[in-house]
Order: sequence, then C-alpha cells, then structure tokens
Amino acid sequence: MSFRILGTGMCVPSRVVTNDELARMLDTSDGWIRQRVGVRERHVCTDETAADLGYRAALDALEDSGCRAGDIDLIIAATVSGEDTAPSVSCSVQQMLGISCSAFDINASCSGFVFLLEIAAGFFARGTAKRVLIIGAERLSRITDWEDRGTCVIFGDGAGAAVLGEGSEYLCSKFTVEGGSDVIHIPQHTGKSPFFGRETASPYIKMRGRETFKYAVEAICSDVNYILDSNGLNIDDISYIVPHQANARIIDFAAERLKLDKSRFYQNIELYGNTSSASIPIALDEMNKNGLLHSGDLLLFTAFGGGLAHAACLVRWTKN
Ligand code: UT7
Repeated sequence: MSFRILGTGMCVPSRVVTNDELARMLDTSDGWIRQRVGVRERHVCTDETAADLGYRAALDALEDSGCRAGDIDLIIAATVSGEDTAPSVSCSVQQMLGISCSAFDINASCSGFVFLLEIAAGFFARGTAKRVLIIGAERLSRITDWEDRGTCVIFGDGAGAAVLGEGSEYLCSKFTVEGGSDVIHIPQHTGKSPFFGRETASPYIKMRGRETFKYAVEAICSDVNYILDSNGLNIDDISYIVPHQANARIIDFAAERLKLDKSRFYQNIELYGNTSSASIPIALDEMNKNGLLHSGDLLLFTAFGGGLAHAACLVRWTKN
C-alpha cells in the first residue's frame, strides 16, 4: 500500500514582478534573465505568508479531490522560508482549515516535494493515515538578497499542494544527499547567546550558480536513468518528466545529455521563477487543471537543490 493522488492545488501571490521591474532596481536585463534562466516574471508576496499561500493551495487541492478538510488526518509541509519556526507551516494551515489532525514540516530545500511523497507513503504503508495533505509553500522573497543579481532574479513565491488517498500508485523513488554547504547556503539568524562564538552570517540565500547548475544537470540525468532502468522502462513509457523548475537551461542541458526531446519535460518557470519546494506541485496542478494528465499516465518527478540533495520518484496518475 502506498497512495494515489486524489487532487492538486496551487496558489501564487497576486503581485507580479517582471524582469523589467528588476532591471530598474539592479544591473540586469530582461534579455539576460530570459536567456540565462528562462524566467519572464515571478510572483512575490506583499502581505501573504508562506502559510497563507499553503492554506490557499490546500483549499484548492481539497476542492479538486472532492474531500472535506475534516477528512484529512495528516498534513506535511515542505518549506525553507516559513515565517515562524513554531508554529510550523503545516500547523498554521491546520489551524486555518479549522481541523484537528497530525501536522509537521520538513526541510529538504528544492527537493522537498519528492521527500513529502516518500514520507506520506510510509504513513499509508503502516495504515496510520487514510487522507494526507502535502504542501510545498515558499516565501523565498523573505530570504532573498534583493541586491544580489546572481540569485534574486531566479526566485519566486508560491505554494502547491496535493491530497493523497490510499492506493498503490507510488512506484519507485531515490534520494541522495551529498553535502555542499559551500554551494548553497541559507544561514539562519544566529541568535543572541552570550556563549556562542561564531560570526553572524546574513540570513539570505547564497548560491554558487555554476556549481549548482552542473550538479543539477548531473542529478537529473542520473535520477532519470535510475528510475527508468530500475523499472525496466523506456522513456516512451513516461508521459511527463516533471522537474524542479530552477532554470530552463538546466532542463535543456539535461534533455540534451539524455538525448530526449525537451518537450518530455514539463516547464513553467517562465511565469513563476524557481519556487523551491513549491515548483513541482505547482507544475503538477497546472498539468492536472489544463487536462494534460490521463488515468494511467506515468509521471517522473526529479528535484535537486540545497543540501545538496536530489530526489526522484515515479507516480502513476489515476485521477479521472
Ligand atoms: O533551486 C535550487 C538550485 N538552484 C539552481 O539550480 C540554480 C542553478 N544555477 C543557475 O541557474 C545559474 O548558474 C545562474 C542563473 C544562477 C547564473 O547563470 P550563469 O549562466 O551560470 O551565469 P554565471 O554565474 O556564470 O555568470 C555569468 C556572467 C557573470 O559576469 P562576468 O563575470 O562574465 O562578467 C555574472 O556577473 O553573468 C553575470 N550575471 C548577470 N548579468 C546580468 C550574473 N547574474 C546576472 C544578472 N544579470 N542577473
């Protein structure tokens, strides 16, 4: 027993920030961002929190699933940018939904949504949950250095969610963590302890772009090959590869190295930027709502990012 996906949802804040708007704040241009990253615009919170976005994505996913909030017996959220350490994003969503159930957060950076699927599968396998709400919710604008053109042009805010029910459609997964705090680092507030002697680092995303880029291409290629090989599948058996939306060129490079047409990879980074743990569930919701998915379709999710961590899994879509 694992699960099947009953419904999906998403939410992005209404404020859109275009590349041209960024170019008025920084030494960058619409042309550079489109060509090097593939982003045209991103959504940025003005007064919403990560939990607010997660809540709205959850309502959307509940409606799509036909379940009531009260049917949910576990909420798990993935985030690196929730406002509060406590309550966690999942606990805040639980309170907003007005329900009583178990809830906790995880942090696996941009790979968070794939880790959520694996954790949820464990609850279903043990029979300790019948309906699980999983959410990737990020307000990355909170932890973005808006003066660093090497990072701030990439990211966006948003949330994606899915409602899972009992089933056997989670077919295979792989998780890899390799260390790499010098490649991607998001320091926290160091506190005021008079006993702690380390220097305070500014609490914003620091990333060595080129190293991350190479790591990401490698991660996608090795994980896609692993999922195909270990299931005796051919790429034609897969309806879509749904990658973490970090940079359109990462997907282009991976497609070329895998000798695949890039249309095999679902892409929507142009409109949202990189929303970390929210990027795969937002993509999934778009695919679902736009009628791209059919019962029996095999979806291969592949994600990579801070940790350094990468993760991939295979899910059979059975909704309608
Ligand atoms: O989601 C988590 C994982 N994150 C990722 O996967 C991100 C992976 N990395 C990337 O997406 C890309 O490496 C970046 C988008 C971050 C950077 O693109 P790049 O093609 O790797 O550029 P670069 O860092 O090699 O920089 C090339 C040039 C540099 O100028 P010089 O040294 O050649 O004069 C940069 O200073 O581009 C410059 N540059 C910019 N120019 C205009 C860097 N950022 C910008 C910018 N606008 N925003």
